[in-house]
Amino acid sequence: MAPDDLLRSTGASRTFTGRSISDAELHDILDDARFAPSGGNRQPWRVVALRDPDVRSQVVEATRPVWDDYVAITEDGRVPFNVVDGEAPERVERDRPNPLIDQVERVPVVLAVAADLRAIAAMDAQAERLPLAAGASIYPFCWSILLAASQRGLGGVLTTFVTRVERSVADVLALPEHHALAALLFLGEPERRISRLSRRPVTSFATIDRFDGEALSNDAPRDP
Ligand SMILES: Cc1cc2nc3c(=O)[nH]c(=O)nc-3n(C[C@H](O)[C@H](O)[C@H](O)COP(=O)(O)O)c2cc1C
Repeated sequence: MAPDDLLRSTGASRTFTGRSISDAELHDILDDARFAPSGGNRQPWRVVALRDPDVRSQVVEATRPVWDDYVAITEDGRVPFNVVDGEAPERVERDRPNPLIDQVERVPVVLAVAADLRAIAAMDAQAERLPLAAGASIYPFCWSILLAASQRGLGGVLTTFVTRVERSVADVLALPEHHALAALLFLGEPERRISRLSRRPVTSFATIDRFDGEALSNDAPRDP
């Protein structure tokens, strides 16, 4: 697939056909994804493929209350877990359906991705607002896994719910000291191919010189 097609067509897939993914194929996906960038090229990633049904179900089940909270906050008309007003309501209906959790045994591959915090320069860790920069050394790698899967006719989704229950799954995963869980990735052959992703146009988010500057458009080329 041409690079622009790959970028424009790699959407989130949450339901998969029965086609399995061998360890060799998964190895090849990770072998491409490892070329992702990271701060200082320190490549802080560790990956565990959750093949054992017990391990997989313990880890994924632990995220269910997070999912229930997520749905409840969304139904309240708010952005879940945002740092301004993202707390869950006091009463939350439990055990909401979620195909990734309810039928996790049918997902061909579940990956737990962790980062070695000793290998990450957390540039804005002392900021008065929510720190963001540390994630930039691990999430490009996660995205590269999804792109490498997509290139092979596979697909999947990145989820971060597990970060809220990291302590409760640390032992079952033998999460090493000084490591943080970054994501669970679900991979397989998508049941449906997404033909068109819904994204905002460039002119809605890119401006010249300042964030309140003129919109960057493609109809008035400027000299450098
Ligand atoms: C940081 C992050 C967290 C996400 N968490 C979840 C999740 O917990 N569950 C889920 O089903 N999708 C999750 N997604 C997938 C997004 O919902 C998806 O990328 C977005 O809705 C765009 O979907 P599309 O590519 O199919 O248009 C996450 C994506 C990102 C980047």
